[in-house]
Amino acid sequence: MRATSLLLAAGAASASAMTTTTSSPSTITGEPCAVVSASLAALGPSDRPLVPAEVGYNCLNSVKVDVAGDIQQIEELKAYLQWQTTFTYLSNPPAGYTEKPVDILGGLDSISQKVKSGGYSSEWAVQSDISSLLNQAYDNHLAFLSDMSFVIAFERAFSLVSISKDGVALPELYIYEDIIKTQNGEKFTPSAINTINGQNATSYVSNQALQTTYHDADTRFNAMFPNQALMSTGENSLGTFRIGNYDGPSTTFVFSNGSTLDSPNSAVVVQSFDGVDSGEAFFSKFCQGPGSSAATTAAPSAASSTAAASSTGGQAPTPSPTGYPEPVVIHSELAIGGYFINETGFEDVAVLSIPLFEPPSGKQDAILEYQSVLREFLASATSSGKTRLIVDTRGNGGGNIILGFEIFKQLFPSIAPFGASRFHAHSAFELIGAALADVVNNETYIHENGADFLSDVENFSFFDYQLLLDINNQDFKTFEDYYGPHIIHDDNYTSVWRYNFSNALSTSYPFFSLTGYINETKVTAQPFKSENIVLLQDGFCSSTCTIFSELMKEQGRVESIAIGGLPVNAPMQAIGGTKGSMTLTFTNIQQLAQQSFQLAAVQSEKMAEMLNSTIINTLAYPQQLLNRVAYNGAAAAAQVNAADNLRNGDASETPLEFVYEAADCKVFYTAEMVGNVEETWKAAATAQWGKGGCVPGSTDAPSSISGGVYNGTNSTNPTQPHTNAAPAWGVPGLLVVAAGAVIALFL
Ligand SMILES: *[C@@H]1O[C@H](CO)[C@@H](O)[C@H](O)[C@H]1NC(C)=O
Ligand SMILES: *[C@@H]1O[C@H](CO)[C@@H](O)[C@H](O)[C@H]1NC(C)=O
Ligand SMILES: *[C@@H]1O[C@H](CO)[C@@H](O)[C@H](O)[C@H]1NC(C)=O
Ligand SMILES: *[C@@H]1O[C@H](CO)[C@@H](O)[C@H](O)[C@H]1NC(C)=O
Ligand SMILES: *[C@@H]1O[C@H](CO)[C@@H](O)[C@H](O)[C@H]1NC(C)=O
Ligand SMILES: *[C@@H]1O[C@H](CO)[C@@H](O)[C@H](O)[C@H]1NC(C)=O
Ligand SMILES: *[C@@H]1O[C@H](CO)[C@@H](O)[C@H](O)[C@H]1NC(C)=O
Ligand SMILES: *[C@@H]1O[C@H](CO)[C@@H](O)[C@H](O)[C@H]1NC(C)=O
Ligand SMILES: *[C@@H]1O[C@H](CO)[C@@H](O)[C@H](O)[C@H]1NC(C)=O
Ligand SMILES: *[C@@H]1O[C@H](CO)[C@@H](O)[C@H](O)[C@H]1NC(C)=O
Ligand SMILES: *[C@@H]1O[C@H](CO)[C@@H](O)[C@H](O)[C@H]1NC(C)=O
Repeated sequence: MRATSLLLAAGAASASAMTTTTSSPSTITGEPCAVVSASLAALGPSDRPLVPAEVGYNCLNSVKVDVAGDIQQIEELKAYLQWQTTFTYLSNPPAGYTEKPVDILGGLDSISQKVKSGGYSSEWAVQSDISSLLNQAYDNHLAFLSDMSFVIAFERAFSLVSISKDGVALPELYIYEDIIKTQNGEKFTPSAINTINGQNATSYVSNQALQTTYHDADTRFNAMFPNQALMSTGENSLGTFRIGNYDGPSTTFVFSNGSTLDSPNSAVVVQSFDGVDSGEAFFSKFCQGPGSSAATTAAPSAASSTAAASSTGGQAPTPSPTGYPEPVVIHSELAIGGYFINETGFEDVAVLSIPLFEPPSGKQDAILEYQSVLREFLASATSSGKTRLIVDTRGNGGGNIILGFEIFKQLFPSIAPFGASRFHAHSAFELIGAALADVVNNETYIHENGADFLSDVENFSFFDYQLLLDINNQDFKTFEDYYGPHIIHDDNYTSVWRYNFSNALSTSYPFFSLTGYINETKVTAQPFKSENIVLLQDGFCSSTCTIFSELMKEQGRVESIAIGGLPVNAPMQAIGGTKGSMTLTFTNIQQLAQQSFQLAAVQSEKMAEMLNSTIINTLAYPQQLLNRVAYNGAAAAAQVNAADNLRNGDASETPLEFVYEAADCKVFYTAEMVGNVEETWKAAATAQWGKGGCVPGSTDAPSSISGGVYNGTNSTNPTQPHTNAAPAWGVPGLLVVAAGAVIALFL
């Protein structure tokens, strides 16, 4: 998924290049990083910067441990991680959670202790341990990627794919490129993979999949392969098997036809290695914070470059999604599109494809276009006599929360969306929120400063109890009323809150009216019945996508089909991504801390100084942490899950990613589906409304809608439209980022 696009974009001239030139390490010896430099020097000017995988790996491992720096980094990391919501759930998971418990903060202490006692042989080992500890939270809103991880990446020569002969028989693993060949009409019989590096192929891939950050084994398995939906947006989504952690110098496949393929693995050198001839030189070039080479990487995303390409030069050509049929309507940045299946038997089916919940450019026009594309497509579908709708959210890692609510509101105009969240209650949140509360309650200041007041609060909207509503859609009376804290599952949390959709400042875009609210109170009839809609999921759904899916399931009563997963006759969860409702990058947290001094200074300079003697000082001025993180443009490649999404009626207030939820049906990919997305959609339509096609054992799971004993709460509260115009002040900047599933770095 997105986790690889930066390195790909930066390192790969052509993602489809299967033959790679790497220089031979055997002729060059000495300092491992000098071997990398020499290997690069031996390449031609148009060659990709590839060296043999072990050459890159040895270089990373030749960087000596920075003992004092690492201990400081871990202390500061723990302060930043106070913003994460789920630690006590991770160390003591509720029943139904499928992953192993992990004590993240305790684990960081152990790493620090091991650094102190000389237990690490290299700096790479320390940083990898930190990242993989956070990885075990299986929360793709939680990450810390070190500067080193953006210097050299590892890749294999092939992608894999898991293929069933008919969509219900257990699938087998194939070389992806083999399957594409057959779909391109080449006369060729691909052979399934029996073993990889001597292990049962399925077991090998499942184990390698543990490096991905999904909380579900089926989703992790899917994440190893190219993603059709993400590729449609122009992203080089080749899968984590292709681009992932180092696993030896080569990969050996044994096929069912008896043949063996031994394929060398490569290291992609993403940064310029000029002058790097030792581990010390590596550390001084790449590990010195923003401004050092590792930090300055531009992060062109494939998706946004596609969009940019189609919007430069005045007359933009009609954008077309890669590998997808002619759309009925498509967003200019390919974030959302509508299709009809013009084939006998499927005349009544429309497909809403939603690979992204935010246009890559993030521009105001593009966001408003998202709303209008959807409106146009639903109108076109109903007027063309379509009565059924497949909502394809495969590959969707999230985006901006308001667009998740928007799609739900266009599909269910008469339902008031629930969507309740809460934050971790900790001292930094309390200090900033209290400082803000003093400002918003200071009549003198507001009277004297009008406009300044508005710009002071714009960056702090989610601390502002006046902009949010309680669980019953009522005002919070005071900041204390909002903050709590409430002890739940052995930790402190704020009160549960909901957005006030009648106040555009409450959500993310002050220029945006959600359908049903503010300037958009004229709504049409519900376009499709619940039972005529189905969600098509591959587990990637994260963040905003899961807010949307929760509304669709709990309030819309819409069933879901999961596609892919492990080769077993069993149900699959529709969602394997974080179900958290907001993410903050470490850069966001640092800026909040720095800007909070201005709030305190409204009262007095003394107050600002006081604030600077608290944990806010560490967040505002970390000495080491933000010098050792990788950067995506200006934003740190580190983030937390800052808010939990909760289910209406769940008195335990369990963050939804800890609640097991099977899809109503599972289907496997066939070669034809991989080659043609219409076949994928036809399989979904047939499984949902036709003559079957669900994998045996995948239906009727108790946590699914069709499971029969499912009894989630139905909401029938009619929308109360409001017509209040939004006050005309700026973007609550932080909520804008409250979105991307994995790390902004990957966007
Ligand atoms: C065996 O299958 C593999 C994988 O499809 C293919 O690359 C190879 O050419 C086949 N070997 C023979 C001898 O057919
Ligand atoms: C791998 O192991 C699984 C489970 O033990 C087994 O069902 C499957 O047939 C094996 N796959 C191969 C290709 O040997
Ligand atoms: C299906 O028909 C619609 C309406 O005529 C058209 O817009 C769309 O492009 C067609 N789709 C394909 C894949 O031909
Ligand atoms: C209110 O703001 C004024 C400045 O406009 C400041 O002098 C005063 O201390 C503030 N009062 C409080 C209680 O923060
Ligand atoms: C809000 O955040 C932006 C971006 O970090 C910053 O430029 C601006 O100064 C902030 N505004 C206030 C009032 O702190
Ligand atoms: C919850 O917050 C209170 C202070 O408000 C603190 O005394 C207590 O230790 C916290 N509990 C946990 C589990 O963090
Ligand atoms: C929501 O915001 C609107 C616009 O600011 C405001 O008029 C309304 O009172 C708010 N709703 C509640 C329940 O406070
Ligand atoms: C609503 O419409 C008014 C008048 O056109 C406009 O000024 C305002 O920005 C709009 N607000 C939103 C949230 O769309
Ligand atoms: C806070 O303290 C740091 C030193 O730790 C200092 O550099 C900074 O200027 C102070 N900031 C404010 C707003 O007082
Ligand atoms: C759902 O049903 C189960 C079993 O009957 C019951 O224990 C549970 O409380 C119900 N949940 C809700 C939200 O009604
Ligand atoms: C929810 O809605 C479904 C379908 O409309 C209905 O069958 C079910 O009884 C409802 N459940 C509750 C708890 O209201």
